[in-house]
Amino acid sequence: MRSIDEQGYHFEEWLTPTDIAKDVKQVADKISADYEGKEPLFVVVLNGAFVFAADLIRALKNVRCEETFVRVSSYYGMASSGKLEFIVPLQQAVENRDVIIVEDVVDTGLTIHQLKAYLRAEGATSVRVATMLFKPNKLEYDDAKPDYVGHEITNEFVIGYGLDFDGFVRNLDAIYKVKDN
Ligand code: IMP
Repeated sequence: MRSIDEQGYHFEEWLTPTDIAKDVKQVADKISADYEGKEPLFVVVLNGAFVFAADLIRALKNVRCEETFVRVSSYYGMASSGKLEFIVPLQQAVENRDVIIVEDVVDTGLTIHQLKAYLRAEGATSVRVATMLFKPNKLEYDDAKPDYVGHEITNEFVIGYGLDFDGFVRNLDAIYKVKDN
Protein backbone atom coordinates (compact mmCIF):
# COMPACT_ATOMS: atom_id res chain seq x y z
CA MET A 1 0.00 0.00 0.00
CA ARG A 2 1.35 3.42 -0.92
CA SER A 3 1.57 6.22 1.62
CA ILE A 4 2.50 9.90 1.56
CA ASP A 5 3.44 12.53 4.12
CA GLU A 6 2.02 16.00 3.59
CA GLN A 7 2.34 18.99 5.91
CA GLY A 8 3.11 16.81 8.93
CA TYR A 9 0.24 14.37 8.34
CA HIS A 10 0.52 10.75 7.24
CA PHE A 11 -1.83 9.55 4.47
CA GLU A 12 -2.37 5.98 3.24
CA GLU A 13 -3.74 4.90 -0.14
CA TRP A 14 -7.44 4.12 0.16
CA LEU A 15 -8.83 4.02 -3.41
CA THR A 16 -6.37 2.86 -6.07
CA PRO A 17 -6.57 4.11 -9.67
CA THR A 18 -8.34 0.82 -10.52
CA ASP A 19 -10.92 1.36 -7.74
CA ILE A 20 -11.49 4.90 -8.94
CA ALA A 21 -11.98 3.79 -12.55
CA LYS A 22 -14.69 1.34 -11.40
CA ASP A 23 -16.45 4.05 -9.41
CA VAL A 24 -16.33 6.48 -12.32
CA LYS A 25 -17.72 3.87 -14.73
CA GLN A 26 -20.57 3.04 -12.35
CA VAL A 27 -21.54 6.73 -12.07
CA ALA A 28 -21.14 7.32 -15.82
CA ASP A 29 -23.32 4.31 -16.67
CA LYS A 30 -26.14 5.58 -14.44
CA ILE A 31 -25.96 9.08 -15.88
CA SER A 32 -25.85 7.67 -19.42
CA ALA A 33 -29.05 5.70 -18.75
CA ASP A 34 -30.85 8.59 -17.02
CA TYR A 35 -29.96 11.28 -19.58
CA GLU A 36 -30.46 9.36 -22.82
CA GLY A 37 -31.97 11.78 -25.34
CA LYS A 38 -31.35 14.80 -23.08
CA GLU A 39 -28.58 17.37 -23.36
CA PRO A 40 -27.34 17.93 -19.81
CA LEU A 41 -25.09 20.80 -18.79
CA PHE A 42 -22.37 19.74 -16.36
CA VAL A 43 -21.50 22.45 -13.86
CA VAL A 44 -18.07 21.44 -12.60
CA VAL A 45 -17.07 22.81 -9.21
CA LEU A 46 -13.47 23.99 -9.39
CA ASN A 47 -10.86 23.34 -8.37
CA GLY A 48 -11.29 19.86 -6.92
CA ALA A 49 -13.78 18.30 -9.35
CA PHE A 50 -11.82 18.88 -12.54
CA VAL A 51 -10.06 15.50 -12.36
CA PHE A 52 -13.26 13.50 -11.69
CA ALA A 53 -15.18 15.52 -14.28
CA ALA A 54 -12.58 14.86 -16.99
CA ASP A 55 -12.88 11.10 -16.44
CA LEU A 56 -16.65 11.14 -15.94
CA ILE A 57 -17.61 12.95 -19.14
CA ARG A 58 -15.35 10.72 -21.21
CA ALA A 59 -16.96 7.60 -19.73
CA LEU A 60 -20.50 8.65 -20.72
CA LYS A 61 -22.18 6.75 -23.52
CA ASN A 62 -24.40 8.45 -26.06
CA VAL A 63 -24.97 11.58 -23.98
CA ARG A 64 -24.73 14.86 -25.84
CA CYS A 65 -23.54 17.24 -23.16
CA GLU A 66 -21.88 20.56 -22.38
CA GLU A 67 -19.61 21.58 -19.53
CA THR A 68 -19.14 24.82 -17.65
CA PHE A 69 -17.21 25.68 -14.51
CA VAL A 70 -17.74 27.58 -11.28
CA ARG A 71 -15.37 28.14 -8.44
CA VAL A 72 -16.54 28.52 -4.89
CA SER A 73 -14.68 28.40 -1.63
CA SER A 74 -16.06 27.09 1.63
CA TYR A 75 -13.20 25.01 2.97
CA TYR A 76 -9.75 25.89 4.22
CA GLY A 77 -7.18 23.33 5.35
CA MET A 78 -8.92 20.56 7.25
CA ALA A 79 -11.83 22.54 8.75
CA SER A 80 -14.89 24.03 7.05
CA SER A 81 -15.34 27.79 7.39
CA GLY A 82 -19.08 27.40 6.79
CA LYS A 83 -19.23 30.31 4.35
CA LEU A 84 -19.52 30.00 0.57
CA GLU A 85 -17.73 32.50 -1.63
CA PHE A 86 -18.14 32.68 -5.43
CA ILE A 87 -14.69 33.11 -6.97
CA VAL A 88 -15.54 32.15 -10.58
CA PRO A 89 -19.22 32.85 -11.27
CA LEU A 90 -21.38 30.81 -13.63
CA GLN A 91 -20.54 31.74 -17.23
CA GLN A 92 -23.35 29.92 -19.04
CA ALA A 93 -27.14 30.26 -19.01
CA VAL A 94 -28.83 27.38 -17.20
CA GLU A 95 -32.40 28.38 -17.98
CA ASN A 96 -34.43 25.37 -19.21
CA ARG A 97 -31.39 23.12 -18.89
CA ASP A 98 -30.96 19.80 -17.12
CA VAL A 99 -27.99 20.56 -14.91
CA ILE A 100 -25.64 18.07 -13.25
CA ILE A 101 -23.32 19.56 -10.65
CA VAL A 102 -19.99 17.72 -10.49
CA GLU A 103 -18.20 17.72 -7.12
CA ASP A 104 -15.11 16.02 -5.73
CA VAL A 105 -16.65 15.43 -2.28
CA VAL A 106 -19.90 16.34 -0.58
CA ASP A 107 -19.07 16.96 3.07
CA THR A 108 -21.50 19.18 5.05
CA GLY A 109 -23.36 19.82 1.79
CA LEU A 110 -23.17 23.59 2.19
CA THR A 111 -21.57 24.09 -1.23
CA ILE A 112 -24.20 21.97 -2.99
CA HIS A 113 -27.07 23.44 -0.97
CA GLN A 114 -26.15 26.96 -2.04
CA LEU A 115 -25.27 26.07 -5.63
CA LYS A 116 -28.53 24.18 -6.13
CA ALA A 117 -30.55 27.13 -4.87
CA TYR A 118 -28.62 29.43 -7.18
CA LEU A 119 -29.05 27.22 -10.26
CA ARG A 120 -32.77 26.78 -9.60
CA ALA A 121 -33.18 30.53 -9.22
CA GLU A 122 -31.41 30.91 -12.58
CA GLY A 123 -34.12 28.74 -14.17
CA ALA A 124 -32.59 25.27 -14.48
CA THR A 125 -35.20 22.62 -15.34
CA SER A 126 -33.54 20.06 -13.08
CA VAL A 127 -30.46 20.02 -10.88
CA ARG A 128 -28.76 16.78 -9.87
CA VAL A 129 -25.42 16.14 -8.23
CA ALA A 130 -22.63 13.73 -9.18
CA THR A 131 -19.78 13.42 -6.70
CA MET A 132 -16.72 11.20 -6.49
CA LEU A 133 -17.02 10.99 -2.69
CA PHE A 134 -19.84 11.49 -0.19
CA LYS A 135 -19.52 11.80 3.59
CA PRO A 136 -23.14 10.96 4.64
CA ASN A 137 -22.37 11.25 8.37
CA LYS A 138 -21.38 14.87 7.93
CA LEU A 139 -24.32 15.98 5.78
CA GLU A 140 -26.09 19.00 7.28
CA TYR A 141 -28.36 19.94 4.35
CA ASP A 142 -30.94 17.35 3.24
CA ASP A 143 -31.28 18.80 -0.26
CA ALA A 144 -27.53 18.34 -0.81
CA LYS A 145 -27.72 14.53 -0.79
CA PRO A 146 -25.99 13.59 -4.06
CA ASP A 147 -27.80 11.65 -6.80
CA TYR A 148 -24.69 9.89 -8.14
CA VAL A 149 -21.90 8.81 -5.79
CA GLY A 150 -18.57 7.19 -6.66
CA HIS A 151 -17.78 6.08 -3.12
CA GLU A 152 -19.05 6.79 0.39
CA ILE A 153 -16.60 7.65 3.14
CA THR A 154 -16.97 8.31 6.88
CA ASN A 155 -15.50 11.46 8.36
CA GLU A 156 -11.87 11.13 7.36
CA PHE A 157 -9.96 13.81 5.49
CA VAL A 158 -8.79 12.58 2.08
CA ILE A 159 -6.46 13.87 -0.60
CA GLY A 160 -5.61 13.10 -4.23
CA TYR A 161 -7.58 12.67 -7.46
CA GLY A 162 -8.46 16.37 -7.38
CA LEU A 163 -8.81 16.65 -3.61
CA ASP A 164 -6.32 19.07 -2.12
CA PHE A 165 -4.60 19.87 1.14
CA ASP A 166 -4.21 23.65 1.13
CA GLY A 167 -3.96 23.68 -2.66
CA PHE A 168 -1.48 20.83 -3.08
CA VAL A 169 -1.58 17.08 -3.95
CA ARG A 170 -4.58 17.24 -6.32
CA ASN A 171 -2.40 15.44 -8.89
CA LEU A 172 -2.12 12.16 -6.95
CA ASP A 173 -3.58 9.32 -9.06
CA ALA A 174 -5.15 7.61 -6.01
CA ILE A 175 -7.21 8.81 -3.03
CA TYR A 176 -5.36 8.79 0.30
CA LYS A 177 -6.86 8.86 3.80
CA VAL A 178 -5.28 10.72 6.70
CA LYS A 179 -4.04 8.51 9.54
CA ASP A 180 -4.17 9.65 13.15
CA ASN A 181 -0.59 8.78 14.03
P1 IMP B 1 -19.11 21.05 1.84
O1 IMP B 1 -19.59 22.35 1.31
O2 IMP B 1 -18.98 21.07 3.34
O3 IMP B 1 -19.90 19.87 1.37
O4 IMP B 1 -17.61 20.89 1.38
C1 IMP B 1 -17.31 20.56 0.08
C2 IMP B 1 -15.90 20.97 -0.25
O5 IMP B 1 -15.04 20.83 0.90
C3 IMP B 1 -15.30 20.06 -1.30
O6 IMP B 1 -15.54 20.54 -2.59
C4 IMP B 1 -13.82 20.09 -0.96
O7 IMP B 1 -13.21 21.17 -1.61
C5 IMP B 1 -13.78 20.32 0.52
N1 IMP B 1 -13.55 19.08 1.27
C6 IMP B 1 -14.42 18.42 2.06
N2 IMP B 1 -13.88 17.30 2.57
C7 IMP B 1 -12.63 17.25 2.08
C8 IMP B 1 -11.56 16.28 2.20
O8 IMP B 1 -11.64 15.24 2.90
N3 IMP B 1 -10.42 16.56 1.50
C9 IMP B 1 -10.27 17.66 0.73
N4 IMP B 1 -11.24 18.58 0.57
C10 IMP B 1 -12.41 18.37 1.23
